[in-house]
Amino acid sequence: MIALQSVTKHITDGRRKIPILDDVNLFIDKGEFVSVIGPSGSGKSTLLNILGLLDKPATGSYVFAGESVLSLSSGRLAAFRNQRIGFVFQMFMLLPRMNVLENVELPLLYSSLSRRERRRRSKEALAQVGMLEKTGQRAIHLSGGEKQRVAIARALVNNPELILADEPTGNLDDDAKHAILHIFSQLRRQGRTIVMVTHDVESARIADRCLRIHGGRISAYDFGVGSPAPAGLAALASPSAAASATVPDGASDRAAATASDGSAAPGLTSAGARPDDREEARP
Ligand SMILES: Nc1ncnc2c1ncn2[C@@H]1O[C@H](COP(=O)(O)OP(=O)(O)OP(=O)(O)O)[C@@H](O)[C@H]1O
Ligand SMILES: [Mg+2]
Repeated sequence: MIALQSVTKHITDGRRKIPILDDVNLFIDKGEFVSVIGPSGSGKSTLLNILGLLDKPATGSYVFAGESVLSLSSGRLAAFRNQRIGFVFQMFMLLPRMNVLENVELPLLYSSLSRRERRRRSKEALAQVGMLEKTGQRAIHLSGGEKQRVAIARALVNNPELILADEPTGNLDDDAKHAILHIFSQLRRQGRTIVMVTHDVESARIADRCLRIHGGRISAYDFGVGSPAPAGLAALASPSAAASATVPDGASDRAAATASDGSAAPGLTSAGARPDDREEARP
């Protein structure tokens, strides 16, 4: 479903070019759950932003469900992102003074759906994350774990083909973290395509396979043969993660070369990283 080929990205420091992503090739099948780990500053968010069409590579190609998305105009890009990609961020990015239902409904405001239908879909998404009973509560009054569950509902409300999560448990305590990872494993079982960036190797295990970014290069990550997941997460660990863990470095780049099937039904919308969504990050 996703094919990134020969993607590079660099930053410029004075006259020096510093590579962030260096010849990245990444193929992800529909229904795959891929986790990405790597040290701070290694380019994980940059990769996710490119996958989410929030950023463009300097060179390379990106095909999403058969469509060469880097050549889309900015208007079509925004619509594509809104309808086909759901985002979950470490800082939740909810609008604090809006209630839970209104936050989840936001991505649907760009659609032509009736208010009634928007509400119905938002409640359906909230039910999936166990937050239906809090629809009227303002986001600012939720716990971190609850905020993230609402953010996941917002990412799901358009039934997007791809869900991108950047450190979704980075700001949560262990209990909330496990609850969020449990939701991601449920989404995986539903056949959703997910890419999750995390610092936490144990969280990364719940995916079908794990990739590591280091020095701008991407490779398969090996958890170590037979190393057990910690008790709290053992039940969530994907059976195929163990298998992919033994794939040698670099093989992941080739592993899913069966990429883009182009067959997924378009979802309706989803939250992009809109500037006003960042309101919550302000003091
Ligand atoms: N807009 C930008 N301007 C300048 N430098 C940037 C910009 N965006 C990212 N960088 C730099 O690119 C590198 C990769 O950043 P990125 O945010 O992708 O890393 P990361 O792996 O997500 O790190 P972390 O784990 O800390 O979130 C870092 O060195 C960062 O400082
Ligand atoms: Mg990051």
